[in-house]
Amino acid sequence: MDNQLIDAYGRSIEYLRLSVTDQCDLRCFYCMPKGFKDYQEPEHWLSFDEIERVMRIFGELGTKRIRLTGGEPLVRKQLPQLASRLAALPGIEDLSLSTNATRLSKHAVTLKQAGISRINVSLDTLKPERFTEITSGKLDKVLAGLMAAKAAGLYPIKINMVVMKGINDDEVEDIVAFCIEHGFTLRFIETMPVGDTGRNAADLFVDLKEIKQRLEQRFELVPGMMPGGGPARYSRVAGSDINIGFITPMSQHFCDTCNRVRLSVDGTLYMCLGQEHKFELRPLLRAGISDEELKTAIRHAINLKPERHEFNEKPEQVIRFMSMTGG
Ligand code: GTP
Ligand code: 5AD
Ligand code: SF4
Repeated sequence: MDNQLIDAYGRSIEYLRLSVTDQCDLRCFYCMPKGFKDYQEPEHWLSFDEIERVMRIFGELGTKRIRLTGGEPLVRKQLPQLASRLAALPGIEDLSLSTNATRLSKHAVTLKQAGISRINVSLDTLKPERFTEITSGKLDKVLAGLMAAKAAGLYPIKINMVVMKGINDDEVEDIVAFCIEHGFTLRFIETMPVGDTGRNAADLFVDLKEIKQRLEQRFELVPGMMPGGGPARYSRVAGSDINIGFITPMSQHFCDTCNRVRLSVDGTLYMCLGQEHKFELRPLLRAGISDEELKTAIRHAINLKPERHEFNEKPEQVIRFMSMTGG
């Protein structure tokens, strides 16, 4: 089919995770090293015109969902302008953002006006000192950002909590209560050995089956669903309207239903979060490739998509940091 991207394993690729910067204003220890400075040079960044062109072509090839990621996407200047250009593209039905929320107080209203309908926010703890230990940042900014997003009508707001043994696993019930209070969806995530930072956190791994069993002691969980196209499996908390999603790349991978590829800020398509298979679009874009040739190149790239990650078999494998592709 001309207007669909199907990979070598028969999966339909219709979700593009677009990293608009590899920089971040936090330093979550499982993601980015503290003194990290090895960012892409600005001249290697795709311009908004280049990004819009590539996304338009993906839209013509059947992409329905675009998620803006980073690093921290709001570090990129004029992000709402880019968002409104992407929201206007034919075929794009779902434009969302994954953010750490530090800058959301300032940008929530503009983002909503620009056509971002929903956001996912990283939040691993509700304890201010612990938050600073994990991220080197300040919790109050994130909480203010979350409340601004809610007031701006961004919906749903999904909280991403990476559950880590001895770091924040004692807070699972408290975060559920926080999400019930504010109407946020909550997703628990298993730590992945992505980059040296992720690998260093591997001994903090918690199997989310244990967390689910623990929660069932206190809450009645019934099968649930949420809008979105990611790998979370949801349960609804009976008696509330909130859903809890479990993202289990390590204990129960979901690669057979993978629907996504990632485009980094320097115009490299990464075919899998857990593998190095990639295809560089930037040199082609800057050499004046035609739209038809670009479509052919993208089809070729999709054919390189591997069957699955091998985090368990080859944890040493992925060298890039999570912040290069925003998860
Ligand atoms: P929606 O379901 O559309 O809301 O998005 P999402 O959950 O895919 O997006 P988000 O950026 O919030 O990702 C949540 C977590 O899932 C992050 O830790 C990601 O790294 C992880 N994740 C997302 N996609 C993949 C994937 O293809 N493979 C793996 N292993 N993890 C993924
Ligand atoms: N393992 C699991 N999740 C991670 N994230 C960042 N690094 C890791 C890792 N090593 C998460 C962030 C954010 C999401 C986009 O990716 O906490 O919620
Ligand atoms: Fe920044 Fe997100 Fe990485 Fe934390 S997980 S350092 S917020 S890119």
